Amino acid sequence: MVIPTIHMKQGSVAIIDQRLLPGEYRIIELRSVDALCDAIKQLAIRGAPALGVAGAFGLLLAVEENWKIPQGFYFDMESENIAQFPSGPTIDDVQGVLRKASDQIAATRPTAVNLFWAIGRMNNVSRQNFDSTHAMLQALYTEALAIHDEDIEMCMALGKNGAELLADGDTVLTHCNAGGLATSGFGTALGVIFAATESGKRINVYADETRPLLQGARLTAWECTQRGIPVTIICEGMVAHVMSKGLISSVVVGADRIAANGDTANKIGTFTLALVAHRFRVPFYVAAPSSTIDLSLPSGLEIPIEQRSEMEVKSIAGVSIAPEDARANNPAFDVTPHDLITAIITEKGVHRTPFDLSG
Ligand code: MRU
Repeated sequence: MVIPTIHMKQGSVAIIDQRLLPGEYRIIELRSVDALCDAIKQLAIRGAPALGVAGAFGLLLAVEENWKIPQGFYFDMESENIAQFPSGPTIDDVQGVLRKASDQIAATRPTAVNLFWAIGRMNNVSRQNFDSTHAMLQALYTEALAIHDEDIEMCMALGKNGAELLADGDTVLTHCNAGGLATSGFGTALGVIFAATESGKRINVYADETRPLLQGARLTAWECTQRGIPVTIICEGMVAHVMSKGLISSVVVGADRIAANGDTANKIGTFTLALVAHRFRVPFYVAAPSSTIDLSLPSGLEIPIEQRSEMEVKSIAGVSIAPEDARANNPAFDVTPHDLITAIITEKGVHRTPFDLSG
């Protein structure tokens, strides 16, 4: 079962609005690059692989927005081909629009490398030789669809690889949301759990609530209940206690960026989880597609960490919970050093220390 998180629909980027879950399941159609960037910044669409797809589709949106076709649209996932693009705009014109949109989308969130990876793939295609702007746009559309479809394929493959590490009856702790909602569909850390349950293993999930924005309590718990997988929510402060009681068989988390040495940036709180897992000898797995690996960075020290608004810490669901004069610190991610990671699961296999992620 794959829940489509993001798709091109009649010239818009259609996404599940993740701010509203689990209370409301609503698809919103984004019709401008500004709207897409706002949706990314506000986490209406989120999760590293989904951000990559949003970046690729965002560039198509820029074209759609700049050269409106009377009563129609160029890009729609119901069709493999695009509508005829007008002969007026030159390849240079389109490349200029793509450059501007690339810069705008790349400035939304700094940590997940998938965003930059996908924009880079699209721009590489745009620089090939084409006979016409129409041919160039058809190639860009095909590339964006490939980025979308490959993501689902990678998630399903890494899910199968990771499922081998889980046993019937295991209880798996996960953090934030690395499920179908965070990808084109199926998920990474949750993909491992879903693949295990699909192969007949009974898995219980423990979901960290994941303050400040509660992706674990809201989204991971929602995805598990949709699939009938038993899920128990805990606050992050309970992690050491539940592990000390032997309640957790393994930890599986996603990733936003993995450096060449295996150091892994993921949602804030992941590092603490890894330290506690190490203390109690609980295996700690990172599950991610190879689009999340950034071989240009030798270690996690170079990974940029997004700093978000104080208000996200000082409130819950829009309700203030702290004195107005109190300050709050809100780094959105942390970096787990590679020596705390038992294995990194990708679509290519299960990588163990010393990590060689170049293959
Ligand atoms: O701030 P978010 O919700 O985008 O953070 C998401 C995470 O940290 C996920 O664990 C990560 O992107 C992996 S998603 C498959």
